[in-house]
Amino acid sequence: MSIELKKANEYEKAEQEKIPVEEKPAFHVAAPVGWINDPNGFSWYQGQIHLFYQYHPYTTEWGPMHWGHSVSDDMIHWKNMPSVLAPDQEYDKRGCFSGSAVEKDGKHVLIYTGVSNVQMENGSIQERQNQCIAYGDGEIYVKSPQNPVITGDMLPADCSKIDFRDPKVWKKGENYYLIVGNKNSEQKGQVVLFSSKNLEKWKFETVLAENSTGQIGTMWECPDFFELDGTHFLICSPQNMKAQKYEFHNGNNSVYFAGKYNETEHTFQKEAPKSLDYGLDFYAPQTTKLPDGRRILIAWMKSWDACVIPDGQKWQGMMTLPRELRYMNGRLYQNPVEELKQYRKNPCCLKDQEISGTVQFDEVRGRMLDLTVEIENGQFDEFCLELAHNMEYTTTYTYNRKKQIMEVDRTCCGVTKDVICRRIWKVTEGKETLKLRFILDRQSIELFVNDGEQVVTTAICTPMEADEIVFSCDGKAKVNVEKYEIVV
Ligand code: FRU
Repeated sequence: MSIELKKANEYEKAEQEKIPVEEKPAFHVAAPVGWINDPNGFSWYQGQIHLFYQYHPYTTEWGPMHWGHSVSDDMIHWKNMPSVLAPDQEYDKRGCFSGSAVEKDGKHVLIYTGVSNVQMENGSIQERQNQCIAYGDGEIYVKSPQNPVITGDMLPADCSKIDFRDPKVWKKGENYYLIVGNKNSEQKGQVVLFSSKNLEKWKFETVLAENSTGQIGTMWECPDFFELDGTHFLICSPQNMKAQKYEFHNGNNSVYFAGKYNETEHTFQKEAPKSLDYGLDFYAPQTTKLPDGRRILIAWMKSWDACVIPDGQKWQGMMTLPRELRYMNGRLYQNPVEELKQYRKNPCCLKDQEISGTVQFDEVRGRMLDLTVEIENGQFDEFCLELAHNMEYTTTYTYNRKKQIMEVDRTCCGVTKDVICRRIWKVTEGKETLKLRFILDRQSIELFVNDGEQVVTTAICTPMEADEIVFSCDGKAKVNVEKYEIVV
């Protein structure tokens, strides 16, 4: 083990014990100490789910990237493991950036981006992003002497060697394939495809997809590509997008394209992109396929542009709940993995409650909850739910029935910086009832609308005493409420 990795592991061990567990989410992966961002290497290996992540243990800000590691049997209860990669080689000394994992001959193989510098002919220094591998047993990983196994020199001339990162690997038949995020000389995002027989020698195949309209960002980070329910999907996180009505916001987005993939020609005919999540904190999602066939997605529950963290907290960054994906009615549906149900306790079911003015129910409160509210089509224009609420704090979800839009507003959740706090999205028209399932876990609220048709993920930093739930309506609405506590 390198000095750098040993140092990170010792630091983490000593420092994380000083953080009270009640500060952390109960059933979401969070930074042990310091900073985490993107999920990496999300995969099933030898009977467990492994999740790695971009990690800088030493401060609560982004820094030279390591790979942290957690494992789980059920994707709800996670165990923290020692970190597996540190920037300790010439080819990754500026960071071990995002990547993925695959199994080969019984070994767990991590594929990541090694960031380094090169000196140009005129003496100037330029960054290089190349793809590297490490072989492991689920606990200890050793970098290949062949690294880097894919360099920017293998790309066509029009492709950036500086923005060339986040490999996502998969196996099909006897071959391995890998896509990498990239951009072209016109500053348009794209993904490039490579193939290999052995994970060490790679061949450039094609530019699999690109920002052909010019509206989908300058660099496509963290791509993913998979087949689900008979259709292929490309997921990526484009940078520097301009807002498009209710669908996309300014800056970094996470989008998906459904489409048709020709596996011999390697062409992908893609439909228009859609947003994966309409909330304030969702980025760099990655998926994996479980042995039982389910396709599961997990993402970083934060935005690069907004920092929602209580002053003085020693850890920063969480992952979303793993979500099962399905493709129906032309949309990707996301729902919390079934395993969450095993942890639901103390059910409370309230049927046909009339909401007029402001209402609270004694038994409906809490900060670790699985809460479903079905709003029936009564006589009202606006319906509002306030969560993590007390005299001082609140996070508000407002449904405007006439406009068929919803808004999340965390302005009063406890943030002390002027960060983005509101987002509006369009709900699907023509539904009799609106079904809102909220998963609360101390510092986050994930909202699944109409059985996962849309998801709205938001981090909050509200003291735990604020645990009320307030219903209000400007007319009369009928609701059904189902509430469980989550006890892990
Ligand atoms: C996305 C990202 C990736 C990169 C990583 C660095 O959030 O910018 O493109 O690999 O974070 O930490």
